[in-house]
Amino acid sequence: MDKFQINGPCKIRGEVSISGSKNAALPILASTLLFNKPVIVKNLPCVKDIDTMLDLLKSLGSKIILSKDKKIAKIENKKGMKTFCPYSIVRTFRGSIIVLGALIGKYQKCTISLPGGCLIGARPINLHLSALKKLNMSFTIKKGYIYANSSKKLKGANIKFPKISVGATQNLIIAACLATGKTVLKNCAIEPEIKDLTNFLKSAGANIKWVGKRTCQIIGVNSLNQTSYSIMGDRIEAGTFSVAATANQGDLIIKNFDPKVIQFELDLLKKLGAIIKISKNEIHIRGPKKIKSINNIQTKEYPISLATDLQAQFMVLLCLANGKSSITENIFENRFMHVAELKRLGAKITIKGNKAVIYGPTKFNGAELMSSDLRASVALVLAAIFARGESVINRIYHLDRGYEKIERKLKKIGAKIKRIN
Ligand code: EPZ
Repeated sequence: MDKFQINGPCKIRGEVSISGSKNAALPILASTLLFNKPVIVKNLPCVKDIDTMLDLLKSLGSKIILSKDKKIAKIENKKGMKTFCPYSIVRTFRGSIIVLGALIGKYQKCTISLPGGCLIGARPINLHLSALKKLNMSFTIKKGYIYANSSKKLKGANIKFPKISVGATQNLIIAACLATGKTVLKNCAIEPEIKDLTNFLKSAGANIKWVGKRTCQIIGVNSLNQTSYSIMGDRIEAGTFSVAATANQGDLIIKNFDPKVIQFELDLLKKLGAIIKISKNEIHIRGPKKIKSINNIQTKEYPISLATDLQAQFMVLLCLANGKSSITENIFENRFMHVAELKRLGAKITIKGNKAVIYGPTKFNGAELMSSDLRASVALVLAAIFARGESVINRIYHLDRGYEKIERKLKKIGAKIKRIN
């Protein structure tokens, strides 16, 4: 298994370009199952989860031609597509549950393994299933598989999600595209990745309208047209580099994404002392001499609070801040896996329920560390970059799932980082 060896402390300086968003690309790729005509998807990130999604589409019968750099995929569905998604693929990434809406919407049947929990929480799919049921999908669960079908085309319905869920919103939008009649989804997640999905589907002729802040109306169409679409830049990657630039008086230009999608996080960095200049598709961040502490940061659904996918990275910054800070994690029940590892570098953090209190400033000292999930792992990389001496980070395959060429990008902007086998 690959590891990272990092020698710190390093200063982050220069320019970095943001890759396509993994979490926008996954549902867009899944929704290509709705099409009879060819689809071109551009700006794909070269990360493991995208490879796995493409493998899943291929196993279902899609013909996929990838450009040499793997950033552009031409996807065409042949006759006789399959509708079975095996445990061997689904267990490796939960994002695959999103093909359920596409397969049931297009072929009226799908057998898909239950995704199971993961390190950050139980991650149930009850919201996906109960909402799809309202579109006339029936299902049974046997031996770890969902056997879903619908006797005829799905039928539009009015659905109010009892809780905001990114995945359930995506699954329902996709499923409703080819359903008969009108579907109105209330209390939707409105993460930028969801807007990217609806923009993609609209580019192919889907009749989708946002009719309220969290209300999406979909009027079913018979089929979708050929389309070519470029995936949005990855806001979590951009947020991660913004955090890196704020620590240790960094000076970084982050290019190729829309800064508006991390407005909340940029405002938070300003409160911590960062100097930020924003222009159309880039931001320039300079870190302060002293990072300020801040109390009562909450993770919540977009756009009102810190993204849960950036919580671990912000915690690293708060360890370096002067004074006491706190973060409450409101989305996932077990998303403090990085805390024990940060403590190995010298961090002083206490946890009570879903609230972490961070006592800064910490002078991190290098140590051997263990990655857990994707975002916890990148937080450890950041902490090791600012720690004195050598750190070794084990199990970095988590990072390869979601960050494109992370060590190459970090090396170019001043990190002393090496992949060892
Ligand atoms: C998406 O996960 C992202 N994954 C996650 O990114 C992200 O952390 C999360 O949204 C929140 O922003 C992808 O886009 C592939 P949810 P998702 O359904 O859709 C509960 C990363 O690191 N819930 O919005 O699974 C759930 O347990 C990842 O890139 C139910 O109770 O998240 C959680 O507490 C990790 N029942 C909350 O809702 C359901 O049926 C929000 O989950 C579904 C969810």
